[in-house]
Amino acid sequence: MSILIKNGRIVTASEDYIADLFVKDGKVHSIGQNLEMNADLVIDATDRLVFPGGIDPHVHLDMPFMGTYSSDDYTTGTRAALFGGTTTVIDFILQTQGDTLHNALKTWQKKSEGKAIGDYSYHMAVTDFNEDVAKEVVELIEKEGITSFKTFMAYKGALMIDDGQMIRLMKVVKEHGGLVTVHATNGDMIDTLIAKHLSEGKTSPLYHYLSQPEVTEAEASARFCDMLHYTGCTGYIVHMTCEGALNAVRRAGLRNQRVFVETCPQYLTVDASVYDNGFESAKWVMSPPIREKKDQTALWSGLQQGLVNVVGTDHCPFSWEQKLMGRDNFAKIPNGHPAIEHRMEIMFSEGVNKGRISLQKFVEVTATNPAKIFGMYPQKGTLAIGSDADIVIFNPNTQHTISKDTHHMNVDYSSYEGWKLTGKTETVLLRGDIAIQNEKCHLEPGNGQFIRRGKTSYTV
Ligand code: URP
Ligand code: ZN
Ligand code: ZN
Repeated sequence: MSILIKNGRIVTASEDYIADLFVKDGKVHSIGQNLEMNADLVIDATDRLVFPGGIDPHVHLDMPFMGTYSSDDYTTGTRAALFGGTTTVIDFILQTQGDTLHNALKTWQKKSEGKAIGDYSYHMAVTDFNEDVAKEVVELIEKEGITSFKTFMAYKGALMIDDGQMIRLMKVVKEHGGLVTVHATNGDMIDTLIAKHLSEGKTSPLYHYLSQPEVTEAEASARFCDMLHYTGCTGYIVHMTCEGALNAVRRAGLRNQRVFVETCPQYLTVDASVYDNGFESAKWVMSPPIREKKDQTALWSGLQQGLVNVVGTDHCPFSWEQKLMGRDNFAKIPNGHPAIEHRMEIMFSEGVNKGRISLQKFVEVTATNPAKIFGMYPQKGTLAIGSDADIVIFNPNTQHTISKDTHHMNVDYSSYEGWKLTGKTETVLLRGDIAIQNEKCHLEPGNGQFIRRGKTSYTV
């Protein structure tokens, strides 16, 4: 199918101009003024923005976690992502401690193959490092196109590795050109605070927040940067929430290190007053927790300064019934919230419309940088001749309200219920096919392709 998109305002991470764009054989074929190709379909994009499909590098689909599974699978999760203008997601495979990376890979292939609607790739979470796992790491990079390895400095007993394992993993990943990513919080400090609060009978969601103070994230982020410096490995800190952690990266910059940083819309737009709402606050129980207004300021500045490179979601949805598992003990509330659908629209409405980031920065942090950092550029993450025709046609003026009644995620509440946004995804193309149009998804499960990734191609 060929599609001619006429008169759109084409926005990439570096450009902004009105033009026509012609899509053929799943790729961007040509961009120019007054194109006159014969197309199967012509879309009038007058007064619309046309930008590359979003890439969300931090989602958890159908993931076993805290005694249950995240409630979106590859079908519902990638469909909801498409509705919001995200055409590619990177999910996390979790190694089971004591088992191999390849067995974990097989488990995740079963979850995704034949089920994904949008495109996807995997990070491999290494939860139990040893010399056999080191060999598997090399195979994943060289044979499977999985080049990023997730580590947890918290969730002891299930996901956490110690610093010795961390530096050994970093060494092998560095040698083979990959990237180590991290959930950077001090697990031992957090576990001690959780135990203290529970022993005092403090069981409400507020104490989830109070068990993970800023220092737990700042300390672990600094330690991670130090270990990267020692090993020479390239690193990426996921879901950064606070000024103290960002300052650790600033300090690493002073010794000429470059550490990639991701934050998420919730940490930019919501503050810790959400924990003042009894058990309702369970909707915001995630790790790290929501922080203070001063941290929002730091993170927006970090985006503007190019210190924060990516906005992902950390989409990890649980139904209300699942959240109730922690009714009497905040430590049993499954951590995470639904967000995969709203990332692009929240960042546009709260970021671009409020003058906090430019349109180019919006594209850079939601699509281009994730593609470059995670080795998918320029196939994904931009609108250039020969790139995959993953395209969002966006109406910057449409006002709408987020609600559980209209979202497409498989979860029976929205943490953002009632939020009013300006700017809405109208039409989405995935590899040249119409994915979303007229508020309907036109692609079927099995359409989504696994994207093999290469090495980081990010240059400043
Ligand atoms: O609360 C969160 N973030 N849940 C998902 C797992 C993780 O730590 O990213
Ligand atoms: Zn995490
Ligand atoms: Zn996560």
